[in-house]
Amino acid sequence: MPRGLFITLEGLDGSGKTTQIKRLAAWLKNRGPEQPGAPGLASETWESTNLVLTRQPGGTPTGDRIRALLLDSRSTGLAPMAEMALMFADRAQAIAEVIQPALDQGKIVLCDRFTDSTEAYQGGGRELGSEPVLELHRLLCANLQPDLTLLLLPSLEASLDRARRRNERASAQTGQNENRFEQEQDAFYRRVWQKYHEIAAREPARIVLIEGDLTIDEVHEKIVAAVSARLLTASRTT
Ligand code: TYD
Repeated sequence: MPRGLFITLEGLDGSGKTTQIKRLAAWLKNRGPEQPGAPGLASETWESTNLVLTRQPGGTPTGDRIRALLLDSRSTGLAPMAEMALMFADRAQAIAEVIQPALDQGKIVLCDRFTDSTEAYQGGGRELGSEPVLELHRLLCANLQPDLTLLLLPSLEASLDRARRRNERASAQTGQNENRFEQEQDAFYRRVWQKYHEIAAREPARIVLIEGDLTIDEVHEKIVAAVSARLLTASRTT
């Protein structure tokens, strides 16, 4: 059984990631080898392939509890090392419970954020550096690497603006308080942003960087092009 395909989406809060992951999931579900001209998996592979959509932090019952702890702005005074450890606890659980089993079954796993987020937010934003993040990833996540990472980096100002407005709306509507990160200062997000750029420059084979203030359709087209190319390679090697 060939290993499935592991695709992650990354970016700042408010980068449009959630919209794009939904559109990509719909595109993946609606396309198949029967569509004329659609590059993709060989039909035998596609038929046995389902899509698993997940996110971090969260995505498992335990992970959802860790997520609540991490994102609630009442979690005051959380030490950066504790924050990083919780991100990895969540991830180790998600890999064991959801990601690895799905990949072993040959499925496509679409994950909203993965270890690049920890490197950017805790390594960059919280200034813990890349090394402890990469080391913990080796130790706790068996160094599992995505086959493809789509990194959305519209301008810092546009992202922050969108994220803050979205959070005000969400907490007014649901009463849920998930804005611990959005309360950070711009300098924090500038460091996150820089670290994302650094990661993209270090790993050009894995990461497709989609920059600039593009429309939702333009970003979707770029994502589809990158995923199609990756699927084509996967179908050639299976
Ligand atoms: P979420 O509401 O999922 O934001 P978004 O829709 O922008 O992805 O919140 C996730 C928050 O957690 C986000 O601010 C980034 C942060 N985060 C980290 O700091 N480190 C990590 O390892 C992960 C996965 C997320």
